Amino acid sequence: MVSETLRNAREFEATYQPTVPESERAVFHATPAIGWMNDPNGFSFYRGAYHLFYQYHPYSTKWGPMHWGHLTTKDFIRWEHLPAALAPDSDYDLDGCWSGGAVELPDGRQLLMYTGRRARGEQELYYQRQCLAVGDGRDYEKYAGNPVLTAQDLPAGCSPFDFRDPKIWREPDGSYRAVTVTRAEDGSGAVLLFESRDGFAWAFRSVLERCQNQYGKMWECPDFFPLDGKHVLLVSPMEMRPLGLQFHAGYGAIYFIGRYDPESGAFSRENVQSIDYGLDFYATQTLETPDGRRVMVAWMQNWATMNCHPEDAHYHGEMTIPRELSIRGGCLVQNPVRELERYRTEPVLYRNVLVTEEVSLEGVRGRVLDMILSVRPAFEKGYREFKVRVAKDGERETSVCYKPDSGVIQIDRSRCGAPYDIVHTRTFAVRERNGELKLRLVMDRHSLELFVNDGEQAASLLLHTPDSADCISFEADGGAVLMDVEKYGLTVS
Ligand code: FRU
Repeated sequence: MVSETLRNAREFEATYQPTVPESERAVFHATPAIGWMNDPNGFSFYRGAYHLFYQYHPYSTKWGPMHWGHLTTKDFIRWEHLPAALAPDSDYDLDGCWSGGAVELPDGRQLLMYTGRRARGEQELYYQRQCLAVGDGRDYEKYAGNPVLTAQDLPAGCSPFDFRDPKIWREPDGSYRAVTVTRAEDGSGAVLLFESRDGFAWAFRSVLERCQNQYGKMWECPDFFPLDGKHVLLVSPMEMRPLGLQFHAGYGAIYFIGRYDPESGAFSRENVQSIDYGLDFYATQTLETPDGRRVMVAWMQNWATMNCHPEDAHYHGEMTIPRELSIRGGCLVQNPVRELERYRTEPVLYRNVLVTEEVSLEGVRGRVLDMILSVRPAFEKGYREFKVRVAKDGERETSVCYKPDSGVIQIDRSRCGAPYDIVHTRTFAVRERNGELKLRLVMDRHSLELFVNDGEQAASLLLHTPDSADCISFEADGGAVLMDVEKYGLTVS
């Protein structure tokens, strides 16, 4: 049965989604039907398609009472909107259906697990409890036994007001696991592991990881999965303290690589790093494809950079390009899903271009593109910096600048045209391979995702520059660079 709240949301989006001009939408990134989008939820493969739900407030471009919006795709590139899946319409989730995951049940139905948020009386405190809904890939019925995980299921000292974002999966033996975040006694985040035989009755298993006030304060949106012989834990910390060029202040997204012992439920970390070194990246979620790839998506935004869209925008929020994950040299590697390459058009290739003063190249421009650059010093004495500028016209530009002496890349959108005093630059360390640096720039109108050295590092950012600014230029300073360019348009019709 569809509640009135859900019916209203579905009617609203059916009426207003067609009013979003196609020229406003990202071409191949997931965007909301209308209104506001934050975290990816329920990212999963179900009945022949990938499903991506999302934190959704259809009625305005601002965060509000959370619904679950719903998208599907066959290839991570062409997205189709389905009617909203969940609305805050039940006693235990009246203040929001917050983030969660999805899994297929043995009987072919799809199980959603999410956080029901509900005010505790007068005070500004909200219980966060884990709830379920079951459906067919389009319509979902909330489970009569909700909520299924409450304060009683928490280990001593963990806060029932910060207990959220269940990511659920099925084990090879048919049982279920879920990870959630909570706030531990020390006031900072922890990741909890829960288990279930049937997906409906849940019990606490172990504390997988603790923040101990080291990596931010509260954590959000955990994910946990095996990858290349190790286990990977992803979390999005709030109130990070900056540490060198590895962790920046504020809202981050970090990974732990380590070993997991299923007998004891213990995880031991071996390496901790940022997932993405850009400006707009938060709240990751992954799935496993039928052909065995681990694919991650994230909200291409964060709580400090949000709401910087034009006043007349019809929607706010988009996801990153889904990225294939692997582990190389103990570090997480990410690259755009290979399906993107099917949409490449109009190849433009250059080899050994000598770059000194700022130059543009015939055929190299645009705002929807996939471009790979390889740069190396032209002469023995090297060069001081190499800069590529995109979304450029006489007035505006966004740049990626590599400085070999200090081994850093700086991304800079301070001149992209956005009239907002938010963070616009970020600097992170990179390593050359055989005297060469490889940069892949994936652009989709108002976003730029940079992948360094075949995915060793990624940096994502939004740029609020009019589409007409589509020039690209290259420049080397303090020496000369030899550059190869492989540039494609991306056409999704
Ligand atoms: C992360 C988050 C989650 C929460 C959701 C609410 O961005 O704060 O912890 O479930 O967003 O919309």
